[in-house]
Amino acid sequence: MRRKMVAGNWKMYGRRASARILAREIEDGLPAVLPIDVLVCPPAIYLEAIKGVLGESARVMLGAQDLCAQGEDGARTGEISGAMLLDTGVSHVLVGHSERRQLLGETNESVGAKLVAALDAGLIPILCVGETLAEREGLRTEAVVVTQLQAVVNVAGNDAFARCIVAYEPVWAIGTGRNATPDQAQAVHGFIRSWVAEQTDQEIADDLRILYGGSVKPDNAAALFAMPDVDGGLVGGASLKASDFIAICRMAGETARAGT
Ligand code: 13P
Repeated sequence: MRRKMVAGNWKMYGRRASARILAREIEDGLPAVLPIDVLVCPPAIYLEAIKGVLGESARVMLGAQDLCAQGEDGARTGEISGAMLLDTGVSHVLVGHSERRQLLGETNESVGAKLVAALDAGLIPILCVGETLAEREGLRTEAVVVTQLQAVVNVAGNDAFARCIVAYEPVWAIGTGRNATPDQAQAVHGFIRSWVAEQTDQEIADDLRILYGGSVKPDNAAALFAMPDVDGGLVGGASLKASDFIAICRMAGETARAGT
């Protein structure tokens, strides 16, 4: 049985004080027992501060938004290695977020290299894939997603799917308030799982967690999380408001308890 996860991607928002307050509100506001994994991914510069707030919290894990593709220490001005993230208490790292692909020059190849660097460092990568609106309208969603997944297989091998999480984030749904419908999300999640099963084996595919991201809000989360291949959410805007994020976590908990 796959354990559901709700991950908050804080992107480049907040300041030290507000980030600490948000982390404290989330930690205090979550139910004591929740049958899901909860992760927050603050800006890298505040990871240490948020780690300080969360302490050894068993309920909220710490994620990073990016890492350097090179694993070894070296001359990479401005970069942060997987080992440094691990050293700071990070357990997960986003890899290949569409904003990095579209605005910051990430390619399928660099994403593959970063995923390998994350695995080598002992982090769990959350591999982000998803199509643009033009690609969806051109009926190329599956082809685009396969290209993004295949790039990872090329460098990390099929086994990577036994050690990572996938986040399906249609670009047209990110920050737009226009989420994929539960059926649209399910169609792509189901496709990803069957593609992974073909590449690896059914057990790895069955165990792979596939999160949905793109305008997840308290009013649509329950329907999305109830879909059989949607194993939780990667939440942007709504993760910046503790009450919304907590509401979304509760909904994931309820669907987990209901066994969907
Ligand atoms: P929004 O939830 O703001 O659409 O952002 C989604 C996202 O990009 C999470 O990584």
